Amino acid sequence: MEQFVIKGGKPLQGHVTIGGAKNAALAILAAAIMTDDDVVIDNLPDVRDINVMLDAMGEIGAKVERIDRHTVRINGRNIEALSVDYEYIKKIRASYYLLGALLGKYKKAEVALPGGCAIGARPIDLHVKGFKALGAEIDIGYGLISAKAKWLAGNHIYLDKVSVGATINILMAATLADGKTVIENAAKEPHVVDVANFLNSMGANIRGAGTDVIRIVGVPALHGTEYSVIPDQIEAGTFMFAAAATHGNVTVHNVIPRHLEATTAKLLEAGCEITEYDDAVRVNAEGIPLRHTQVTTLPYPGFPTDMQPQMTVVLGLAEGTSTVTESIFENRFKYVDELTRMGAHIQVESNIAIITGVERYTGARVSAPDLRAGAALCIAGLAADGITVIDDVYYIQRGYESFEKKMQGLGANMELADSERAAQKFILKVS
Ligand code: UD1
Repeated sequence: MEQFVIKGGKPLQGHVTIGGAKNAALAILAAAIMTDDDVVIDNLPDVRDINVMLDAMGEIGAKVERIDRHTVRINGRNIEALSVDYEYIKKIRASYYLLGALLGKYKKAEVALPGGCAIGARPIDLHVKGFKALGAEIDIGYGLISAKAKWLAGNHIYLDKVSVGATINILMAATLADGKTVIENAAKEPHVVDVANFLNSMGANIRGAGTDVIRIVGVPALHGTEYSVIPDQIEAGTFMFAAAATHGNVTVHNVIPRHLEATTAKLLEAGCEITEYDDAVRVNAEGIPLRHTQVTTLPYPGFPTDMQPQMTVVLGLAEGTSTVTESIFENRFKYVDELTRMGAHIQVESNIAIITGVERYTGARVSAPDLRAGAALCIAGLAADGITVIDDVYYIQRGYESFEKKMQGLGANMELADSERAAQKFILKVS
């Protein structure tokens, strides 16, 4: 089993380049099968979730051709199966985007029902509500969700809760429906906008993505395109928080600073110096004491839930008492027990973490409970005294490309060890 081994205590310094947004790419890949023409997608991150999605697409008959590490050519002309297996859904929930894509194109689709996951129950009632409003019949049973329609007709859909997944899934199906669809209380995340831009580049007629009302006029068919995925705001934010926690000075390149405003605002409140450039952000925390603050996760443009564990790690090192309130997912503080083993003082009451800052974390052996919490534990290890060993790193590899290499580029003593022996060898070398 692979592990990350980290000798902490060294401020991160230098430059790091961010890859394409995983969550945008997952939806864009699914949407790529909605035309019979070739679609070329660039700036894909080379991470596990993307590779699972490509496998799921290959399995239903899409032609998937790797052009290089970050570029694929997709052709959805010969899709044979309209059913996506549990094997893929259990690895990545986002393979349910194939439901919206297939329903839009073929008016029929079936995917295994996604279950709960490490961070909460994650229902799909809003996706179902949207598909039904477009005229699909939905059947749920035997672990499957099946959708079929004679034809799809545009409709007015109000989402009772802001949901990225439901907004994107409905957007895809509505693109090939008859007439006009209005999605109200839509998610405004940058990846929703990216999916809409991608579909528009294929001939869709979508307006208002990035606001809470999206208007879609259905078109009969989509055509091929070439498209580059936006930079990953969560990967970028993770490196920004790593710079803060280690009192480093890091410039994060290939970002859209506007997408990082909530993260930047909280780092400023914590006392860091931030410099924004056209497509880069510098975080400087050298010799700067971190200050306490309050954070609540919210849909975009609020503070992202996917940055919550990384923020908590930073505030765990800030003077005074901070609070972090998780308002999106009900079970997203599981990593706190692991962080406590590294010396953090955090009490969780319902959906609020009350954090009393400590001067230092101490290295320990911990397990990554999920993708973002795993990255947060790495940040804690980089800031800690001594050695930290992180198990279950496959969670982190689901969403971060060459994580340890990018950290090494910033001067971190961090290695991916493929055996206990390799881990011991690294520890001897750095001790
Ligand atoms: C996406 C992201 C995930 C991020 C989350 C919130 C992807 C692949 N994943 O997940 O990394 O943490 O957005 O920014 O893009 N809800 C319902 N009914 C539904 C759907 C959602 O009640 O039908 C609830 C969820 O339980 C949650 C909230 O809505 O409380 C937001 O979830 P949603 O935005 O849908 O998250 P995902 O799209 O699953």
